[in-house]
This record gives sequence, structure tokens and C-alpha cells, in this order.
Amino acid sequence: MHIVKRRGWEIAESQVTAEHLVVNRRSVLSGAAGLGTIGLGMMAAGGSALAQGASPAAASPGAVARNPKFEAGRALTDEKFATTYNNYYEFGESKNVWREAQKLKQRPWAIQIDGMVKQARTIDIDDLLKQVQVEERVYRHRCVEAWAMTVPWMGFPLSQLVALAEPLSAAKYLVFETAQDKATMKGLASPFYSWPYVEGLAIDEAMNDLAFLSTGLYGKPLQGQNGGPIRLTVPWKYGFKGAKSLARITFTDKRPKTFWEGLQSREYGFWANVNPAVSHPRWSQSRERLLGDDEMVPTQIYNGYGDFVAGLYTDRKSEKLFM
Ligand code: MTE
Repeated sequence: MHIVKRRGWEIAESQVTAEHLVVNRRSVLSGAAGLGTIGLGMMAAGGSALAQGASPAAASPGAVARNPKFEAGRALTDEKFATTYNNYYEFGESKNVWREAQKLKQRPWAIQIDGMVKQARTIDIDDLLKQVQVEERVYRHRCVEAWAMTVPWMGFPLSQLVALAEPLSAAKYLVFETAQDKATMKGLASPFYSWPYVEGLAIDEAMNDLAFLSTGLYGKPLQGQNGGPIRLTVPWKYGFKGAKSLARITFTDKRPKTFWEGLQSREYGFWANVNPAVSHPRWSQSRERLLGDDEMVPTQIYNGYGDFVAGLYTDRKSEKLFM
């Protein structure tokens, strides 16, 4: 018999609304000042003159303008909830990993860009941030566990990184691989999971206006627990698509097997678009609990971003688009 071990988000439906938040004292550490050692994903960027500095975006968050195009239509979640109630399995299965995750050292940090590109390279995050236009966007975030938040990310459109990477015309997918820092990420020792955490997007999804690489939150550098120094943010999909602390982005013509798909393909697929009418095999997705006051509100298809993304899927109707 196949025994399925339950992960943190694989809770029974009865527990989805009953779960109480564990709110801790807000962190005062900046995302760039954690302790710890350089992990495997951080590559050899040790010689960078910018190595210990905060990114330009992080250094002057006040200068980052909010893009009014992405009005979220509901109140912002209080920062303390978004930064103390997290999923980051490399640091453990609990929601309360923020202290541990802040130990992830965020500088130096390099991202490997490879696969079907004109020229593979490793780019230091601060060098990358000099080549993109950073802005703020308020997005709704919907976890497959049925909790949700509304937060102001700072970062830049993923399409700008795709342009810098110069993919070959045959490239069809992007694969996102996240950092593996054995010194701070105790969850990596778990034999149950197949690390690294891997996510993927089709290239047209990556070029969509909404697809974003986040480097800040609430006007501050992104803290470790939220995926600092750089994470994927795709608000029309379930939160697990938003791979944290990116170490490598690979362009390929083959659809990757993602982290959760590899563990339980019956429950988690590649596309993972939000849809209230398609239940998770063990609980409903029709409503969501807003972090903070725990109000339950109806979930919207594509998390309410259908105007931006529905067209991506008209020719993909035969795919399992919603989980
Ligand atoms: N990225 C990595 N590397 N490891 C993870 O465990 N969890 C995912 C996603 N990205 C995860 C990850 C899940 S399940 C969710 S819901 C979001 O991160 C949570 O993001 P947040 O903690 O910033 O709210």
C-alpha cells in the first residue's frame, strides 16, 4: 500500500478554517543581514564589490513607485502576518519558520541562467538589479491550503529577465530551482522530499504582464522567510508555484517535473491555476481565509486575474489546468 505522508498544507478540509495563526514578534533583521554560510545555490560570487551591500531596489525602497495597473481590490494584509506565517519547507514543515529563514545569508547571491539561451551565465543579484526596472505591485496571493493575503511586492517583470537571458526560439519552458543552504535549511535533511524545490512556467506565462520576480515586500528587502533575496510571484496560480530564494533559471523545451508534482502528482500538477470550482482531492477551493482577521471570502477563477491570463489557456483546454 502506498502511504502518503501529509505535508503541512495537506490538511483535512475541516482543519482549513479552524487553523489558528501563530503570530510572532515582527522581525527587525533586514533581509540582507542574516547570519549563516553560503549555500550550494549561491554560486561563486564572492568577489563582487557589491557583495555585502543591499540591492539598489532594497537600498531605496521609497524611490520605488507602485504600479496602479495591479489594484488588488481588497485591504492589504498586515505585514506581521505575511512575514510570520509562511511555507518554506527547506526550513521545516511548520508555518513558524521565520526566525530560522532569516539566517539565510542573502549576499553574495548569484543566479545561474542556463539551458537553451544564447549564452549561459551566472549573474550577481545586484548586477541584475541594475539592469531591470524595479516597481511595486500589490497582488493577491492564494495558497492551495485555502489561506490568502494581499501584499505589496517590490521587484520587476519576469519578462525583463527573459529578455536579458536571450532564450533560443526552441525554448518552451522556464525551470526555477531554489537555493539549498545546508547550514541553515534543516529541512533539506528530510529524506521524504526530493530537493531542490523546482517550479516551472511555460514561456508565454513567463512573458505575461503579471509574472514577477520579487525582491522586496512592504517597501523593504525581501526577508528569508518570504523567499529573499529573489522569488517568483505568479498571483493567478496557487502559491506553491512561487519558488523562493531562486538560485537557477533554466530554459528548456521539456516541461519540468515540479517539486510537488514529483511527490504527489494526483494532487499537484504543473499548471496549478486557481479555480474555486476545482477542489483539491481532499478539500474544497471555493473559499479562502484572509490572513489577519480570518474572514472567509469566495475564491475567484485565476485568483481574479482572468483578464490578464485567461487567454494563455484557450489552446490548452486538454491540459489539467487547475491543480
Ligand atoms: N519555495 C520554496 N523554495 N520552498 C517552499 O517550501 N513554499 C511555497 C512557495 N514557495 C515554498 C516555496 C508555498 S506552498 C507557498 S503558499 C508560498 O511559497 C508561500 O509564500 P509566503 O510564505 O511568502 O507566503
